[in-house]
Amino acid sequence: MQKDLPIEVLISEADLQRGIDQLAKKISVQLKNEGADPLVVLCVLKGAFVFAADLIRRLSLSCEVDFVQLSSYGSSETSSGTVTCKKDWEVSMQGKRVLVIEDIVDTGFTCQYLRERLLAGGAADIYFASLLNKPSRRLVPVEVEFVAFEIEDQFVVGFGLDADEKYRELPFVGVVRE
Ligand code: PRP
Repeated sequence: MQKDLPIEVLISEADLQRGIDQLAKKISVQLKNEGADPLVVLCVLKGAFVFAADLIRRLSLSCEVDFVQLSSYGSSETSSGTVTCKKDWEVSMQGKRVLVIEDIVDTGFTCQYLRERLLAGGAADIYFASLLNKPSRRLVPVEVEFVAFEIEDQFVVGFGLDADEKYRELPFVGVVRE
């Protein structure tokens, strides 16, 4: 895939910011009302780093922040179905609420993997917040509590999402037109 391929804007920078703003308000209200256990915001690298940075600054909640790097796509456009952990989180999850920040939920394998591992680590409650959701692609049933944008089954890049490590820096979500 070449860098100079045309990219059609699917979700503009302004729409992304509006969507993230609304989602941050919803998350803040719900998590304030549900329980008092300490909160960890867990950003799933690499794709979620842009969304996480924007979202976390709008949450009116105190939290720890940590990172986990998972991969199941490699340079392919389809999931291998096997989630590989490249970098684990460092804080203890014992007795804490965990808000997992994802850029996209597709097959659901990554969410399923994380929920199992977080439960095994003693997390008291687990919430998923994803910038994008592609429900039509789901292969395993997973609950995603907070979604900013539902999208159709098309390959998207930008705002953290890549095609073979390119396009993460784009300030919008777009579709590569070949
Ligand atoms: C992407 C994305 C999610 C996951 C979702 O990660 O960031 O973590 O896939 O797909 P799923 O619902 O089918 O499991 P990827 O493996 O592309 O790694 P990256 O974030 O480093 O690009």
